[in-house]
Amino acid sequence: MSLRIGDDAPNFTAQSTEGEINFHEWLGDSWGIIYSHPADFTPVCTTELGRTAQLKDEFARRDTKVIAVSVDELKSHHDWVKDINETQNCDVDFPIIADTDRNVAELYNMIHPNASTSVTVRSVYFIGPDKKIKAIITYPASTGRNFTEILRVVDSLQLTANYSVATPVDWEQGQDVIISPAVKQEDVEGKFPKGHRVIKPYLRYTPQPNK
Ligand code: BEZ
Repeated sequence: MSLRIGDDAPNFTAQSTEGEINFHEWLGDSWGIIYSHPADFTPVCTTELGRTAQLKDEFARRDTKVIAVSVDELKSHHDWVKDINETQNCDVDFPIIADTDRNVAELYNMIHPNASTSVTVRSVYFIGPDKKIKAIITYPASTGRNFTEILRVVDSLQLTANYSVATPVDWEQGQDVIISPAVKQEDVEGKFPKGHRVIKPYLRYTPQPNK
């Protein structure tokens, strides 16, 4: 059965470019992203892994660890990392799993047989410190992911985990957020001292509480 939001993130032990990893131990108390790549030495994947490395400080600021998966072998990953560093002007220092037995790809439903029986699609799983899946996005091999969106999702997940708010369409850090419909109007002033606007009883905005 497919993994869904709220499910436990499956644990596994795997070989990676940073040595053997037990996924849950490696995550520790951090947030995590596990994302799949169709194959080594492919152009779109090269740019995605490069961007991940370039965004190292952004992920660190969000206490979010990133781990990549592809079904190619370790030697190939190490050789490919040299190309990524050279062509994307970066230093890949996060683990890339060598999922040659497809254990991780199967656990995380990263192979979509009607797209390809041999390689993974571009899956992204966002995992909370409680090891639960918080969000999932999936693209085909032909569409490179948007890492601005990936960081934005992390920001939204972390904000909404701590406050009774939701983030509206196209929300970005610092913009007003929506007060959760579960918050009674009589409790709004106490919970959101920065103020609020009522557009409709179900559509209430407040400044981002943690800014
Ligand atoms: C790529 O990463 O460039 C790619 C991989 C598989 C299919 C198409 C593109």
